[in-house]
Amino acid sequence: MHVDKERFKICLMNKTMSELLNLKGKTAIVTGGAMGIGLGIVRRLSEAGASVLICDRDEAAAVKAAMDIKEMGLSAAAIKTDVSSEEDIRTAVNEAGKLFG
Ligand SMILES: NC(=O)c1ccc[n+]([C@@H]2O[C@H](COP(=O)([O-])OP(=O)(O)OC[C@H]3O[C@@H](n4cnc5c(N)ncnc54)[C@H](O)[C@@H]3O)[C@@H](O)[C@H]2O)c1
Repeated sequence: MHVDKERFKICLMNKTMSELLNLKGKTAIVTGGAMGIGLGIVRRLSEAGASVLICDRDEAAAVKAAMDIKEMGLSAAAIKTDVSSEEDIRTAVNEAGKLFG
């Protein structure tokens, strides 16, 4: 497929970050989302409009992270999840569906 690179560049430059990355109505699941790189990802996704389920084996840190996001008027929830447990992953995915659709 032919891509007109100059036209593509101009299209991008005329858009704000929120226009480029608009995740309103989307649901995101972030494992290890309570701190570090995962929390950074949670913040960026929620700022872009996604509802984010923070999955972490550190429940207290996940709950605090979700509260901090909600205090900014954004959408997040937390669930204790160990990513090495298939059952925990299934529960988290089901919970995301129940909470955010
Ligand atoms: N921070 C860096 O600069 C850097 C650079 C390169 C690679 N990495 C790698 O990237 C990964 C994340 O780094 P980080 O700095 O964000 O780490 P971190 O330790 O700050 O955060 C990891 C998060 O994952 C959670 N977690 C760990 N095991 C889990 C499990 N089994 N189930 C659910 N949650 C779990 C922890 O509770 C914590 O909240 C690590 O593997 C790290 O080695 C980090």
